[in-house]
Amino acid sequence: MARQFHTAASCFVAICVLQACSEPPHTVDDHASVGATDAREAIILSRAERDLVLAEMRMMLESTEGIVAGLAANDMQRVEQAAARAAPSAPETVDQELHASLPEAFLHSGAAAHGGFEDIARLARQAAGTEAVMTRLGETLHQCTSCHAAYRVEVAR
Ligand code: HEC
Repeated sequence: MARQFHTAASCFVAICVLQACSEPPHTVDDHASVGATDAREAIILSRAERDLVLAEMRMMLESTEGIVAGLAANDMQRVEQAAARAAPSAPETVDQELHASLPEAFLHSGAAAHGGFEDIARLARQAAGTEAVMTRLGETLHQCTSCHAAYRVEVAR
């Protein structure tokens, strides 16, 4: 009886140890420590400005989705339409309204991303071929990833 209890107890301990090893420890400070290591530059915006910037971001991701879907379907008209949505002069492109609130380098990178979409629309219209569109898309996506590595948005209190 005592021996059975002993065996059961050691199994229990073994399971606990295994679980402790497989799961990283969670503490209430997890969030704080993520924030502490986030070295991206904070762009301070009003709530409304933040909403505008993020809505534009989501639009660019949707545009990218449409471009990739168009390429997969070999449908250059769809590629053109999707890319034109994020071109600099498109109505959903709002950077211009926020010029005063955004740092120069941020505006520059944003303009480069929108310029990439404009080029993609033009390449698709000229039937320049999948490879040319994909190359420009890759360069444009690099604008997204490098800006995301450099900046984050914070709402002013
Ligand atoms: C000029 C800088 C810049 C460029 C270029 C840029 N982004 Fe962003 N994006 C940001 C910042 C800053 C945020 C907010 C990140 C944060 O606060 O953690 C963001 C957030 C986002 C979000 C989250 C939106 C939400 O509702 O939370 C998406 C999606 C996104 N970007 C997509 C893209 C795509 C796709 C591209 C390229 C086609 C792109 N971004 C290019 C700066 C940029």
